[in-house]
Amino acid sequence: MNIVVLGMQWGDEGKGKAIDYLAGGFDVVTRFQGGHNAGHTIYYQGQKVVMHVLPSGIFYPHCWAVIAHGVVVQPLQLVEEIRNARGLGLSLANLALSGNAPLILPFHQQLDALFEDSRYRRIGTTRRGIGPAYEDVVGRRALFVGDLLREGVFRSKIAPLADYYQRLFSAHGMVVGDMEAAIGEYLRAGEFLAPHVRDTTVLLRESLRGKKNILFEGAQGTLLDIHLGTYPFVTSSNTTIAGVFSGTGLSHKAIDSVIGISKAYATRVGEGPFPTELADESGALLRARGNEYGATTGRPRRVGWLDLVALKHATEVNGADSLFITKLDVLDELAEIRVATEYETDGERHDRFPSHADALERITPVFRTLPGWRRPLGDCRRLADLPAPARAYLDFIEEYTAVAIGHVSLGGEREQTIAIPR
Ligand code: IMP
Repeated sequence: MNIVVLGMQWGDEGKGKAIDYLAGGFDVVTRFQGGHNAGHTIYYQGQKVVMHVLPSGIFYPHCWAVIAHGVVVQPLQLVEEIRNARGLGLSLANLALSGNAPLILPFHQQLDALFEDSRYRRIGTTRRGIGPAYEDVVGRRALFVGDLLREGVFRSKIAPLADYYQRLFSAHGMVVGDMEAAIGEYLRAGEFLAPHVRDTTVLLRESLRGKKNILFEGAQGTLLDIHLGTYPFVTSSNTTIAGVFSGTGLSHKAIDSVIGISKAYATRVGEGPFPTELADESGALLRARGNEYGATTGRPRRVGWLDLVALKHATEVNGADSLFITKLDVLDELAEIRVATEYETDGERHDRFPSHADALERITPVFRTLPGWRRPLGDCRRLADLPAPARAYLDFIEEYTAVAIGHVSLGGEREQTIAIPR
């Protein structure tokens, strides 16, 4: 089986935990979009490990861990992550990095910060240079991982680009940093990464032909997709199923099943509309119980009730075959749980998700209230162990979205997961 794991919300759905749970059965795990804006938290041999670019496959030596060409790569960050992983005793001989992955360059990070701090736009980005790096791809002036391996080519491509950014920055009283030092660091990172660089499309195609099982590891979530998310408060890649194809070079025929990951409630980091956001003590309780602080930036996450209108939209965009519901245990102490089932716009009730932010800002969510269970769920191992209100909550999600729930997660540990056989 080749499976795609995608976030159904604004990222941070617990994909790391879900992928770690699923990855043991795969021969290849590949990332296909995003960059080190992502942060997957995994517990490895009792240690908490946060990864930003490395695919979860690195924990399984039999498994290829692939960074495909849809991912934007900051080479210094990647080298650091590889060194950290080696410190955990992992060899990383199983890591493959696409030579065609676009580079995040120092001035991309500067431009990201410039926009964030300016009066033009504030998205609440991770300031990692993700947007500007993808802009250069679309603008047809990007540099790629493969360029790092040929010093002459790298120098001849980066010089005019640095000049372009210098002119742009001058208008804002800024300078591009010390390029000679940066070039040296990037070239050294290139040498370090060289043994891993290859054509990942070829590797993935050969894996397909060899009937290997591939796990496609999404980063961020559907509502942050550049085309289908809450624009402009989105990231700069296709976080949805579409990103799998452009980001790997495989076709839809490579996919057997799409698993959508959603928390049992909702969170969002950064700016932008969030219809079910909670500003009261229930929100504070969920943030504390769910440890809702960004894995990449440490920012407190905004917290709210589950939005079923948005979730159904996300399952339809991606053709989700099943849902993996995470963090159900975070709701344990609540007497009542609310879920948004409709939106109201100008007095009209409907269940259409308007993805552009200005339209979404004009809706008022309509809630249903369901009973809580007020019991700790962390030790439940089978569906039958769950109290009736918890099962009723899951049934409600399943009926509304018309997508089967295949897994429920009740804590950070791998065993705290219920697989629901179909
Ligand atoms: P960027 O991807 O750094 O450009 O940030 C754009 C938006 O996506 C901001 O709202 C970020 O908070 C959000 N974002 C980016 N990566 C993640 C992630 O991995 N989890 C949650 N939100 C993210």
